[in-house]
Amino acid sequence: MKKTVLDYALRVYLPITLLIVLVTYSVTYFASRNERYNIGYQPTQPINFSHELHAGKMGIDCQYCHTGVAKGRQAVIPAANTCMNCHSVARKDKPEIIKLTSFYNEDKPIPWERIHKLPEHVYFNHSVHVNKGLECKECHGQVQNMAKVAQVKSFMMSDCLACHRSAPEKYPHLVNLTGLKKGPENCSACHR
Ligand code: HEC
Ligand code: HEC
Ligand code: HEC
Ligand code: HEC
Ligand code: HEC
Repeated sequence: MKKTVLDYALRVYLPITLLIVLVTYSVTYFASRNERYNIGYQPTQPINFSHELHAGKMGIDCQYCHTGVAKGRQAVIPAANTCMNCHSVARKDKPEIIKLTSFYNEDKPIPWERIHKLPEHVYFNHSVHVNKGLECKECHGQVQNMAKVAQVKSFMMSDCLACHRSAPEKYPHLVNLTGLKKGPENCSACHR
């Protein structure tokens, strides 16, 4: 009698318990890993601006708004007057455009929530990467499909280095086109 109960417990409950423990562990492991890497961070923005609409459907070039990517460190978030090139006319009566217009009229910066952010001790320069032909999606994913921007790639030191080590093999066409080199691995390149 006792033996069969124990037998049953071992054959049925033990595997189920192990399975539950394993699933719980993996879910919390991956959730906390993503949190640490900032993956999935998707704050609500002060104006409901959609990349899917502007950069996707309407096909506006990224650099029309992010004017810094080919020039220096910062990509630059456009000021309201860039939006007003169109929205002084387009969709003027919509609530989100009325909000936009009041920021513009009061000459206040739009308080966009920053999404991708390296710690202060890291040096990063957009132009070096973009002018070598690396596309935005290599680091930011398919932003033109995002109604609301989220971080989809990790920017841990190991991620920077993984690309720096393999760049010429990973992008052979860019090597011929732009003379793409390996990225630096020495500490002082990124920590100045
Ligand atoms: C019409 C202007 C406009 C165009 C075109 C545009 N963006 Fe943006 N972008 C913005 C604004 C405004 C924000 C800040 C609000 C937000 O996050 O949606 C932003 C935010 C971003 C962010 C997040 C910045 C952060 O805080 O980390 C990324 C990445 C980005 N854009 C990439 C792109 C890429 C890639 C393209 C082209 C496929 C593009 N954008 C086209 C206006 C634009
Ligand atoms: C090149 C012209 C152009 C620029 C620049 C532009 N937009 Fe737009 N935007 C449009 C057009 C056209 C629509 C309507 C598209 C549609 O609904 O098919 C639109 C739609 C929108 C909407 C949705 C409005 C609604 O119907 O509720 C918002 C919000 C918006 N834009 C915000 C912005 C912001 C913020 C910027 C600047 C970062 C910006 N736009 C820059 C042309 C532009
Ligand atoms: C090699 C990777 C890489 C590529 C390629 C890249 N970015 Fe970035 N981007 C980053 C990193 C890293 C940050 C955070 C920088 C920081 O915190 O100093 C960032 C931040 C941003 C930001 C917000 C802050 C800022 O710098 O103004 C925007 C907007 C942006 N990128 C747009 C773009 C666009 C548009 C392109 C393509 C033309 C692009 N990025 C290509 C890695 C990249
Ligand atoms: C998708 C590939 C890729 C990723 C991801 C990437 N890099 Fe680079 N990076 C390169 C390449 C390629 C070069 C060398 C370009 C050349 O000179 O040919 C480079 C050059 C650099 C340089 C030297 C030029 C300068 O600005 O002084 C620094 C610093 C740098 N990267 C920092 C970073 C940091 C920090 C990250 C992570 C947040 C990062 N990179 C992510 C490909 C990448
Ligand atoms: C290609 C750019 C790059 C190079 C080269 C690089 N780092 Fe980093 N490092 C980063 C980035 C990005 C971060 C921030 C993200 C993170 O913590 O992984 C960082 C973070 C760090 C941190 C803080 C870690 C923490 O947990 O807060 C230390 C310490 C560090 N790096 C040391 C070094 C040393 C030592 C070297 C040389 C052997 C080096 N790094 C080379 C990009 C780089």
